[in-house]
Amino acid sequence: MRRTYAEIYLDRLKHNAKLLRGIHGDHPFFCPMVKANAYGHGDIAVVKTLTSIGVNAFGVVLVEEGIRLRKAGIKEKILVFGTFDRESLDEAVEFDLTPVISDRYQVNLAGQVKRKINIHLKFNTGMNRLGFDVEDAKNIFDILQNRKNLNVEGICTHFLNGEDSGADKSITEYQMEKFQSVRNVFQTATVHYLNSSALLLNLHKKHSAGARPGISIYGIKPALHTDVKIDLRPVMQLKSSIGQLHEVFKNSSVSYSATWKASKDSLIATIPIGYADGYPRHFSNQAEMLFRGHRVKVVGIVCMDYTMVDLTPFRNEKKIEIGEEIVVFGQNNHGAYHSWELARDTKTHPYELVTRISERVPRVVIGQT
Ligand SMILES: Cc1ncc(COP(=O)(O)O)c(C=O)c1O
Repeated sequence: MRRTYAEIYLDRLKHNAKLLRGIHGDHPFFCPMVKANAYGHGDIAVVKTLTSIGVNAFGVVLVEEGIRLRKAGIKEKILVFGTFDRESLDEAVEFDLTPVISDRYQVNLAGQVKRKINIHLKFNTGMNRLGFDVEDAKNIFDILQNRKNLNVEGICTHFLNGEDSGADKSITEYQMEKFQSVRNVFQTATVHYLNSSALLLNLHKKHSAGARPGISIYGIKPALHTDVKIDLRPVMQLKSSIGQLHEVFKNSSVSYSATWKASKDSLIATIPIGYADGYPRHFSNQAEMLFRGHRVKVVGIVCMDYTMVDLTPFRNEKKIEIGEEIVVFGQNNHGAYHSWELARDTKTHPYELVTRISERVPRVVIGQT
């Protein structure tokens, strides 16, 4: 197996899911988001593991993602949060996926389906990405009264405080208030809107609702929630090892375009991970990795398949071996450099980091589903 790999810890996944369920309380709708290959963690293993602890539904964005799960034998409800055309909607129905309908065009498509289907409706409360206008709720309700094949099982919205924002509760509270009028119209439908940020801030205590946590299930807190005390455990760790070692003289450059020059004679290690693996090129001269429990600097441009790190501080220590472990992010017995720390150092966020790890990086699943 390739010596660059992502470890996926299923016991941590279960731990996080149980913890978040506990915060969520007794509300019956708990729907982990497993879109984008379960945020890069491997959707089938993740879904099977979460099924074993009992969840009500899973959220994907693409019909293809839902079909993949069905073909792997997943029987739970799968909500599809994407946009639909005729073909994708028909496929969703064929594979018993539940479409989350977010405009009138899609209502018409769904209305033409020749059998009775459950749908969820998404309303726009401020994200301005997908969804019916809140003010349109009554009209949509009336239209759906005449579409006897469509059963509105759920209604939802999405909060704009999520990824790397969220400390300001007031925007989310405003969105929840705004959604209240939709709840009043669709009184029997299940309501869901709690993302990780809202759940961690306990915003459901005021208006109870279903949860759709994503990043927190994978053990990562959205940024700015560092003060929220919760024992989430990172499910993914990305590891590699030393592929080659080079002694370079003072003033020598490393990697393409000579963007880094050695200020003294240096020991450079080549790590077999590059932007084709999802280790972005903009990490060049910015990111760090973990070697023997210490941060080491990425030097020069990140290549398609390789990245170089400066091991000069270790040259007089125990002999450095080819194949010695490098933690790209995660932890081992010697120390930790978490995905959110790497993300902060490189001015991105952990969502992007974990979802971008490409297919050519094997996922090594640890634990039982
Ligand atoms: C529709 C929808 N619901 C829920 C989530 C989960 O958000 P988070 O990962 O911040 O918990 C996402 C993520 O982007 C989403 O797009």
